[in-house]
Amino acid sequence: MAGNGVFGEIIDGDVFKYYADGEWKKSSSGKSVSIINPTTRKVQYKVQACTQEEVNKVMEIAKVAQKAWAKTPLWKRAELLHKAAAILKEHKAPIGECLVKEIAKPAKDSVTEVVRSGDLVSYCAEEGVRLLGQGTFLVSDSFPGNERTKYCLSSKIPLGVVLAIPPFNYPVNLAVSKIGPALIAGNSLVLKPPTQGAVACLHMVHCFHLAGFPKGLISCITGKGSEIGDFLTMHPGVNCISFTGGDTGIAISKKAGMIPLQMELGGKDACIVLEDADLDLVASNIIKGGFSYSGQRCTAVKVVLVMESVADTLVEKVKTKVAKLTVGPPEDNCDITPVVSESSANFIEGLVNDAKQKGATFCQEYKRDGNLIWPLLLDNVRPDMRIAWEEPFGPVLPVIRIGSIEEGIHHCNASNFGLQGCVFTKDINKAMLISDAMETGTVQINSAPARGPDHFPFQGLKDSGIGSQGITNSINMMTKVKSTVINLPTPSYTMG
Ligand code: G3H
Repeated sequence: MAGNGVFGEIIDGDVFKYYADGEWKKSSSGKSVSIINPTTRKVQYKVQACTQEEVNKVMEIAKVAQKAWAKTPLWKRAELLHKAAAILKEHKAPIGECLVKEIAKPAKDSVTEVVRSGDLVSYCAEEGVRLLGQGTFLVSDSFPGNERTKYCLSSKIPLGVVLAIPPFNYPVNLAVSKIGPALIAGNSLVLKPPTQGAVACLHMVHCFHLAGFPKGLISCITGKGSEIGDFLTMHPGVNCISFTGGDTGIAISKKAGMIPLQMELGGKDACIVLEDADLDLVASNIIKGGFSYSGQRCTAVKVVLVMESVADTLVEKVKTKVAKLTVGPPEDNCDITPVVSESSANFIEGLVNDAKQKGATFCQEYKRDGNLIWPLLLDNVRPDMRIAWEEPFGPVLPVIRIGSIEEGIHHCNASNFGLQGCVFTKDINKAMLISDAMETGTVQINSAPARGPDHFPFQGLKDSGIGSQGITNSINMMTKVKSTVINLPTPSYTMG
C-alpha cells in the first residue's frame, strides 16, 4: 500500500511529504493539495502545498549539489542509477497502485509503467557512460589558412539544474525519462510532478533516495501550479526545462529565460489507411493506438483518414473490436477506465456533442457515467467538426473518409500539431513518400504511433514541441559542449 513499509517515512498523517536536501519534509505552508481518484471522484491522497520560499531553498541546494555531482566519476553515477532502477522495479506493486488510484491507469499497465521506467533508468546509465565517455579532437590545419598549431579538445558537460515537469498520464515514466538523462550527464534535478500522479512520483523519488544519491541532488516539490508553477519555470536557478504536457508548455517557453527547453505538448496523430492496407492489422492498431489508456496518450491515434473504397469494411472491423473492449474500474484491468478528471470528461463530451450536432455517424451510443466514457467511434467526420482537429484525450475516435492520399496528407499537415502519424499500406514506396510528406516528428509504417522503445528519438513539430527526446537525445540535450584549445608555438604533425 502507498506510504507503507520502506515508504513509511514519506508520509505524515494523511499528507505525503515533499523531498528536499535528502530528506522528507512538511511544508511550512501547513496546507495540502488533494488528489481526486478519477474512479471514485473522492479525495484519495494529499500532498504538501509548497511555498515559493521552499522553491528558493531547493534551487539553492540543487546548485550546490550539482557542483559536487559533476565531479563524481561517470561510472559511479551510472552505478547509482542502476541501483535506483533495481529498487524501482522491486517496488513496482505499491507504485503501480498509486497510478491506479491517482490516474485510473489499468492495474497491469500501471505496473508495466514502473518496470519500463526502471529499464529506462538503466539504459540511461549504459548510454551515458559511452556517450559522455568520449569527446572530439580537432586539428586546425583542416581549415584554410591554418597550420597544425591548434588542438581542440571538446567534451560534453552538464547544464546545471534541470527542472523536470512530467504529465499526469505517465507521471513515473515521463519523470524518469528526464531524471535519468539529467543525472547521468552530471546535472542536479528538481521535479515538479503533476498533481494527479504526484504520489506515484514521490514513491519513485524515494527509490532514488534509497539508492543513496547525494543530498540535494534530487528534489521533488509538490504544490499548486498557481502558487509555484510560474515561480519554478521562471526561476533564475533553473538551467534547463524538460516539460511534457499540454499547451501550458507554449506559455512556459515564452516566459523561460535563455535556457535549453525540451517540450512535448501533445498531438493529433493521424492514421492514413490506403486501399491495399491489411485491414485486420489496421483495425487492431486503431484499437491499440486509439483506445489504450482510454486514449489519454499524446501518441494515441486521434484521427483515422481512410480511403473511401475501404472505409465501410474498416469501420465494421473496428466496430466489432470496440464492442469487445471492457469498460470499468482500473483495479479490474478494464480496457477503458475513467478519464483523469471531471473537467476532462466534460471537454470530451463537448467534442462529442459538437460532432453530433454537425451530423457525424455514431457507431456506438454515447455513454458516460461520472468520469467513465464508453469507447466511441465517430464515422463520417468532416473538417468543420471540432473532433477533426482537437485532441479529446479520451476514448473517442473520429474517422474521416478521404478520396485521395493527398487529401489525407493535407488534413494531417493542416493540424497545428505534428507529433506522430502512421500510414498503412503494403507498398513501401508509397509509404516512404507519404512519410516524407507528413509534417510530424515520426511516422510509423504499418503500426500505431508510439514513443517507445524509449531509446528511439521522440519529437514533435509545430505546436507538438521543441527538441528531441529519447534517451540519447535527452542526454545530449542536457549537456553543453566545452572546448579546450592547445596552442602550439610551431606546427606539429603526428607521424606514423
Ligand atoms: O503521452 C505521451 C507519451 O509520451 C506517449 O507515450 O507512446 O509510450 O504511450 P507512449
